[in-house]
Formats: sequence, C-alpha cells, structure tokens
Amino acid sequence: MKYVLVIIGKRLMSIDFFYRIIKPILFKLDPEKSHDWVFYFLSRLELIGGKFFSVTSPPLVKPTYVRKLFFNNRIGLAAGLDKNGEYIDALSRFGFGSIEVGTVTPMAQTGNEKPRLFRIKNERALINRLGFNNVGMHQVFKNIKKSRWVREKKGVLGINLGINKTTSLHNAYMDYQKGLLFFWGVANYFVINISSPNTKQVRELQTDKYLEDLVKKISRFQKQQNEKMGTQKPVLYKISPDNNEKELEKISHVFNKFSVDGVIVTNTTNNHDELNSDLEVLGGLSGAPLEQRALLCLKKIKPLLNRDIVIIASGGIMSKEAVEERIKEGASLVQIYTGLIYEGPKIVSDSLENL
Ligand SMILES: Cc1cc2nc3c(=O)[nH]c(=O)nc-3n(C[C@H](O)[C@H](O)[C@H](O)COP(=O)(O)O)c2cc1C
Repeated sequence: MKYVLVIIGKRLMSIDFFYRIIKPILFKLDPEKSHDWVFYFLSRLELIGGKFFSVTSPPLVKPTYVRKLFFNNRIGLAAGLDKNGEYIDALSRFGFGSIEVGTVTPMAQTGNEKPRLFRIKNERALINRLGFNNVGMHQVFKNIKKSRWVREKKGVLGINLGINKTTSLHNAYMDYQKGLLFFWGVANYFVINISSPNTKQVRELQTDKYLEDLVKKISRFQKQQNEKMGTQKPVLYKISPDNNEKELEKISHVFNKFSVDGVIVTNTTNNHDELNSDLEVLGGLSGAPLEQRALLCLKKIKPLLNRDIVIIASGGIMSKEAVEERIKEGASLVQIYTGLIYEGPKIVSDSLENL
C-alpha cells in the first residue's frame, strides 16, 4: 500500500503530469501571458523547495563532449523561452543538458507591440514577432548570477546575443562584442543571432554585404579574449531556414574561412507556405510546420561546412524521432522550444531514452 502511495505521489508531483493538467487552461489564455505566468509560478516553486516537481524518470544517457564542453545530454533549450535568464533553475528541472538564455541586447528594449505571439494549435505551431524584448545585459547578468544551476555548474549555459533596435548594421559588431565581454565569465558558449525573423535588418547580417566583416571582427575579438582570459569560449552563429542554396554556400564559405566554432540551424521561418491555416499573421513560424524546412537546411549546409564546425539543430523538433533524425543528419546537439509548449517536458525525457 505504502509503495502504491509513493508511486501515486511521485506521479502527481511529476512536472509532466502537472503540465498535462494545466495545458488546456493555459491554451485558453493569451500565449504571452500564460508563458509568463507558468514560468513565474515554476520559479516561485523553486524558491520554496526546488525538488517539489521532478521530471518523470530522467533516463541515464551517455554524456557528450562538444568543443571541450561537457553536456549531460544532447537536448538543449532553444533561445527565446528564457530571454532574461529568470527561470533557469525551474527550466533545469525538465532535464535539459544545456539552456540558452536570450536573445540579450546591450540595452533593455520592449520589443514590438502586443499581441505578438500566436498559437496555431491544430498545427502545433507558434508565430512570434516579439522583436528582441529583454531587460538588457546588466539585468540579465544579475538574474543569471542568482541561478543555483549556474553556480553549481550543473549544465551548459549558452548566451544568445543580439543588437539593439537603434544600432546600425555597420555597428552591429559593437553590440555583439559588448555582450561577449559582459558575459564572458559566466557563459559556456555564445550565439550570435543574425537570423531574427522580426527585424529584416538583423537578417541582413547574413548577406555578403555584412557577414564577412562581422565574423572577422567577432573572431578576432574572441581570439584576443580567449588569450587574455586563458579560456576557450565557443562562439556559434544562428542562421535562418529561409536562405537558399546560393546563400548557404556564401554563408558557409565565411564560416569556414574564419573557422567559427559552430552554427545553429535554424531559427524560425518567415515562409508560411507549410501552414494549412489561412492566417494573415506576420512573424517567425516555429513548431511542426518548420520541421522539414529546418531539416532540409541542415542537410544542405552540413556538407558545405568544415568538419570541425559543430552543428546544433533547431526548428520543428517535436518528437524523439525528430531528435534522432537531426543527430543522424550530423547535428551534435539539438534544441527545442515549440515542442516543449505542445508536448510538455516529457519531450525531453522521451527523446533521451532513444539517444
Ligand atoms: C516565442 C519565441 C521566441 C523566440 N525568441 C528567440 C530569440 O530571442 N532568439 C533566438 O535566437 N531564437 C528565438 N526563437 C527561436 C527558437 O530559439 C527556435 O530556434 C525556433 O523556434 C525553432 O525551434 P522550435 O520549432 O523548436 O520552436 C524564438 C522562438 C519562439 C517560438
């Protein structure tokens, strides 16, 4: 009897079970509000006794080393869910091997007008045009410093960097450098976000006109900083799935030329052709309708990149099979965002079982 009660108790306390109960309610609320509430609630629970909720049977998986970084497992949380580094400890309960905070800009900014986040429930998709809303690097740094998961080095922390709306593309490197410098001591890896779907401006950084100069400046800065601090911090670039073959060739050429550490393939898409719903909503599409586009981008760019450039796959990874497929296609790690919203935290433990 006692054993049965323990099992029932554990189940009730599991984060998956909790999520399954509250999901129908959350999905009736405004997407941005429900996101804020649920993570605020989880972070409060962390404060009153971290182990209140647990992930159902986190499977034991083989850890992996990527660029000398130790990952407990290959599943990471994609950028955007914890833009301000406020929920790291709560999110770490889901079993991620890495958590990427951001996109962070040097100065705080409010982003685009609301509503700016939309659910397309029947297609397991999201559209967002948040526009780099974040509290700015100083406050994000303070938030990160409060995280026990970070202090105790329980996983890999990525910092995803962006540029302020008021920064010109010619000066973009300065904003990225500010971010690199500021978070150098706390981040395990960095991501230079040049693929935000909501600012045409930022995506232009992927083009001939800007990319080579940007990567050159950032690589030089990274090298100097590594030498000065005696570190080896990897810097990755996050690209859009909307680049055609010619564009991917040019992008890869620059990445190879400067031996960048890695690429995140991909961000959200501006192409809504894969959506069945007749929605006239502008913004970056993520989730199931992005799966094939992101996978294709991975398949195309993999052979173009030098072998030692690490690939992190992101985009429409909604199942353990999708995780396996991206790893099979050459990704060292994968990241999830929309899959977590639709499938719940179970997507992490389920995917780990197969790896
Ligand atoms: C609401 C929302 C906000 C996002 N914000 C960011 C961001 O700030 N920086 C970034 O690099 N990617 C951001 N992303 C993109 C995700 O990190 C991810 O690359 C993309 O959604 C594709 O993965 P998914 O289909 O698993 O969601 C955001 C995605 C969503 C849905």
